Amino acid sequence: MKFFIDTADLAAIREIKAMGMCDGVTTNPSLMAKAGRKDTDALLKEICAVVQGPVSGEVTALDTDGMVAEGKRLAALDKHIVVKVPTTYEGLKAMAELAGAGIAVNATLVFSVNQALLVAKAGAAYVSPFVGRLDDVGEDGMQLIADIVEVYDNYGYETEVIVASVRHPMHVVDSALLGAHIATIPPEVIRKLVAHPLTDKGLAAFMADWEKLQGGGK
Ligand code: E4P
Repeated sequence: MKFFIDTADLAAIREIKAMGMCDGVTTNPSLMAKAGRKDTDALLKEICAVVQGPVSGEVTALDTDGMVAEGKRLAALDKHIVVKVPTTYEGLKAMAELAGAGIAVNATLVFSVNQALLVAKAGAAYVSPFVGRLDDVGEDGMQLIADIVEVYDNYGYETEVIVASVRHPMHVVDSALLGAHIATIPPEVIRKLVAHPLTDKGLAAFMADWEKLQGGGK
């Protein structure tokens, strides 16, 4: 299973990459705003240089022609750029055109099986269903992942499923159990994945016994 990091925070990306836990990165306009850098093209290039894997940059145009033009400009920044396109009617046309031009597309803001089916047919390299936002409105985000994985398997679509809007460690466990190709995980959730109270308790006990041994001399 691949871990993408869901952030535009370069320091966090560097840290998680050094741990070997960063196979790619996803950004969106909100994450760019959080990073606080207006030179977003330069930032994407810096992220690509660190990650050396797929880095999603999102288009901000809402019409097909605008999305295609922006997507081509983003794709030209670095060979690792994946163009993130919202799953709207206009977006679907842009996805087909960009994919036809050999550009990797990440279909974002996906909330239904039908949307996932459409973007696969349009040639998107990745689909990003947002599990946390579905959970927020009382729907079952992980059931959507299960359904998309099953539908893609039924027809042999090569579009990779990126579980997005990951909020907590159980989203990662469930993604892995369902066989999702990728989870895009915020840095704070990556840190939570390693934590276990029994690890902390066990380590404290080992250290206390070790100190006793040192203090006891011979
Ligand atoms: C990633 O592709 C998505 O843009 C991101 O996971 C959305 O996460 P959020 O719902 O926590 O904003």
